[in-house]
Amino acid sequence: MALLQILRYPDPRLHTVAKPVASVDARIQTLITDMLQTMYEAKGIGLAATQIDVHERLIVMDVSEERDQPLILINPQLVWTSAETHLNEEGCLSVPGIYDGVERFDAVTVSALDGKGVARVVQAQDLLAVCIQHEMDHLMGKVFVEYLSPLKRNRIKKKMQKAQREEAQ
Ligand code: NI
Repeated sequence: MALLQILRYPDPRLHTVAKPVASVDARIQTLITDMLQTMYEAKGIGLAATQIDVHERLIVMDVSEERDQPLILINPQLVWTSAETHLNEEGCLSVPGIYDGVERFDAVTVSALDGKGVARVVQAQDLLAVCIQHEMDHLMGKVFVEYLSPLKRNRIKKKMQKAQREEAQ
């Protein structure tokens, strides 16, 4: 197992569009293990491969309080979205310390392969639905701050760049 480095906004690599996973092989299994460990260590509820600079359609999540219900989605596709949407406060491991409101569907249905490469349909609502939409955006190269106003986004960008300069010193 290994902890992976999480890319920080505004790293341009976060805007890479991921390719489908070709086969759920030993390399992908190792990646899943490492991504879960990295996500739990960072106290996140979701991590997309894009965030660790692997540009393949793979997401790991765990929205349980006990942190014992990992959910893995490979090559996820949205097959249904609710008519209702809701403004939810979101954060992101790639934008540490920043939380802001994003409008998301209340419920979604996703088809995907699980961590063993078996086809699944996942029906999600509330926090899990929000998390799935947030992580699927990452696979499309989109970070949640891109939903915010240009003014807010620029402020966040500057704040992140400053924090990274200070850490580098
Ligand atoms: Ni994120």
